[in-house]
Amino acid sequence: MAKPKRRFACSACGSVTNRWQGQCADCGEWNTLTEEAPATVFSAKHDLSSGGRAISFEPLDMPGKALVRRGTGIAEFDRALGGGLVPGSAILMGGDPGIGKSTLLLQASAKVAQAGGLAVYISGEEATGQIRLRAERLGVAAAPIRLAASTSVRDILTTLGEMEEQPAFLVIDSIQCMHSDQIEGAPGTVSQVRGCAFELIRYAKENGVALVLVGHVTKDGSIAGPRVLEHMVDVVMSFEGERSHQYRILRNLKNRFGPVDEIGVFAMEGQGLTEVGNPSLLFLSGRETAIAGSAVFPAMEGTRPVLVEIQALIVRLQSGATPRRAVVGWDNGRLAMLLAVLEARCGLNFSSAEVYLNVGGGYRLADPAADLAVAAALVSALADKPLPREAVWFGEVSLAGEIRPVAHAGLRLRESAKLGFGDAFGPADAAMSQKGEAGRRTGIALLPNLVDRILGGA
Ligand code: TYD
Ligand code: MG
Repeated sequence: MAKPKRRFACSACGSVTNRWQGQCADCGEWNTLTEEAPATVFSAKHDLSSGGRAISFEPLDMPGKALVRRGTGIAEFDRALGGGLVPGSAILMGGDPGIGKSTLLLQASAKVAQAGGLAVYISGEEATGQIRLRAERLGVAAAPIRLAASTSVRDILTTLGEMEEQPAFLVIDSIQCMHSDQIEGAPGTVSQVRGCAFELIRYAKENGVALVLVGHVTKDGSIAGPRVLEHMVDVVMSFEGERSHQYRILRNLKNRFGPVDEIGVFAMEGQGLTEVGNPSLLFLSGRETAIAGSAVFPAMEGTRPVLVEIQALIVRLQSGATPRRAVVGWDNGRLAMLLAVLEARCGLNFSSAEVYLNVGGGYRLADPAADLAVAAALVSALADKPLPREAVWFGEVSLAGEIRPVAHAGLRLRESAKLGFGDAFGPADAAMSQKGEAGRRTGIALLPNLVDRILGGA
């Protein structure tokens, strides 16, 4: 019999190779490949073309059960889920340590339990006493949650299987500390995480349970991250925020049952997470005086506009040292592109200046419409001229320096006007030229027009 090949799995993305390498060839992470238990090697003669059972084919339009969702009782959580929990589905919730995953899921379990659903919360990381203390702090200690501390998937599934009623909501906190005695390796290795998740997901599907697996985001690769599981689950959510800021955003990255662009917004307070139903002005607080380099951008999160502040700082260098470009909350490559367009099309010179860009409030921007606001902040910082205080800026900038139309211009304009930002600068398309509503709108066709406008005093 052939000697089983050695296998190395990446703890960041789960890809498998036969040779150890310092860097994973698939995801590019360093030092994440670890040796796995050898897989069974099949002989080349293995023939699977006979001896099986016949499977039946079905039409697509067969009448079946309609998708019934169950609310968690936390509106922002439901919104991020695309309308609530789907029974028999698996949700992976990733996020940095300490961001509030356990808090959110304990609050959601309590709400489900208070509404009469059976909620089971299994912690592999904290003792039940610790969770009880947290529940007291959250004011949900009276909720009839079934709480347990365990890391053995066999124990968990045996216990659940013996219960008369199967849970409506099952939380496993976290999948990386779960262990299956059928699989070799310590908890947290790729094979353990995959194997445990597979068993739990199968149980959830067979019993119509809405399952949430908590997954830690890890940088060092010593335990497998949530990416290893992304293919296996129905919904991937990420809980984000700067730990030093109060605000947390629950983002949907994959959803087999609905849209992925909706977010839930929360604030972490003394009594746990509170919902922020109207986040438009959340990230703008504390903007009192007009400062050069600050531009307000009406971002879209799913169907909700959120106003954020973009801050730019330009520092002229005297020496010939290579200038730094540092970005927080936006894409590095996109800033480089925008600087290049400003240099090539508008004749501005950033080559001997350090450029710092920050999105206020610890917010992470993914909206391509931010280009114009970033450009406005950069030009304003370079010229040391504050932009008008009640202005918002949005539009995509092309390499040729044109300002391209973006989605939801009407919504952005309406929300900005509602919050007192009556001056809007955007692409010169139809939405901008619509008159009649409150506010002054200026369409900008080319980036040089924007530069002239700011240098000329807007
Ligand atoms: P936690 O839910 O344990 O994070 P995770 O499970 O994602 O690792 O959240 C821990 C943090 O939340 C901790 O730093 C303290 C803070 N926190 C509050 O500010 N208020 C609260 O009521 C609770 C329960 C936690
Ligand atoms: Mg936790």
